[in-house]
Amino acid sequence: MAERKLHVACIMDGNGRWARRRGLPRTAGHTAGEEALAIVTRAAGDRDIGWLTVFGFSTENWIRPRAEVRHILAMHKKLFGRLDELNANNVRVNWIGRRFDEPGSRTPSYVQRAIKRAVDDTTQNTGMVFTVAFDYGSRAELARAAQLAAADAANGVQPNDLAANLYDASLPDVDLLIRTSGESRISNFLLWQINGAKVHFTERTWPDMSAEEFDRALAVLG
Ligand code: FPP
Repeated sequence: MAERKLHVACIMDGNGRWARRRGLPRTAGHTAGEEALAIVTRAAGDRDIGWLTVFGFSTENWIRPRAEVRHILAMHKKLFGRLDELNANNVRVNWIGRRFDEPGSRTPSYVQRAIKRAVDDTTQNTGMVFTVAFDYGSRAELARAAQLAAADAANGVQPNDLAANLYDASLPDVDLLIRTSGESRISNFLLWQINGAKVHFTERTWPDMSAEEFDRALAVLG
């Protein structure tokens, strides 16, 4: 059987610290983080990575100061709007996160529209699948999957039933998880999908990510 392409996931941490060290507002760190994400996305595509999944905004991030949340939301709209670039690179955009009609969903409609449009307008692309986890929490994903699986399980819920009910059941297991900014923790990210993943922790903050650092992370796979 042909080996499948790699799935790399990133916890993009340290935008705030990057900004603070430069005496800049936290929002400037997120703006710089978007450029780092563009570099990593290009590097991943060039290296024929099959799936790149990034933690853009968690279900816990809503409690951040309003101006910061507004800035991060606007950045997602901008990111999902970079369709010419994404299409030129044959990238298929994908999203995982709390469904917009779920109780507690707070995603404003302008972000919903940007997500739907990016997914729809890149659906024909055959290159790397670029998944943004937005309003995402792994425990919420697993609780929902368990509930859906239980609803149509005649003989109890098996692991496969749970896997089939994740936000995107077609995402393969993660091969490599990268977390920046010296935090050697996983947080609430892809807890099901990282089974068996290798992990690369780096002291660099996310805005300082580079193609070279991405290669150092890939080297962990041997
Ligand atoms: C963590 O930095 C990063 C985030 C909260 C995610 C947002 C990421 C971006 C805006 C980069 C561009 C990506 C997208 C998807 C638009 P932090 O604020 O937790 O940093 P700190 O721990 O140093 O405070």
